[in-house]
Amino acid sequence: MSRPVIAVLNGPNLNLLGERQPEVYGSETLADLERRCVAHADGLGCDVDFRQSNHEGDLVSMIQELRRSAGVVINAGAYTHTSIAIRDALALVQGPIIEVHISNVHAREGFRQHSYLSDVATGVIVGCGTLGYELALSAIASKLDGGVG
Ligand code: DQA
Repeated sequence: MSRPVIAVLNGPNLNLLGERQPEVYGSETLADLERRCVAHADGLGCDVDFRQSNHEGDLVSMIQELRRSAGVVINAGAYTHTSIAIRDALALVQGPIIEVHISNVHAREGFRQHSYLSDVATGVIVGCGTLGYELALSAIASKLDGGVG
């Protein structure tokens, strides 16, 4: 039987993870993060489709393409705070959606404290560093198993 595939989508500037404000986002690169997500998902019996784009429309197209995946983990970066188009695309997703932010957006500038995505997401994980991606994968896997919460 084929394993469930969880989409992990990353928005603008996350391609420069490791180089970009390491005091905020840490020193791990996006490639390191992808390897960790793949390994963590493997332990949960799932595969990962890990992607990044700096372009809003590309992210919309990715979400449309992956809308029937087992679940979606999304860190939309700054588009979180601006994009009704990404929100509308997420509303098409059939499985659970976990919104992730590496930093604690609530402890930062005021404009980061509103998300267009949170109320269409199943859950939100902020401020846990890149561990948040693993927590999000676990949350989706637990829902696939018919788990509570
Ligand atoms: C971010 C927080 C956003 O406000 C910011 O624009 C990002 C990264 C985070 O992971 O903490 O690009 O989503």
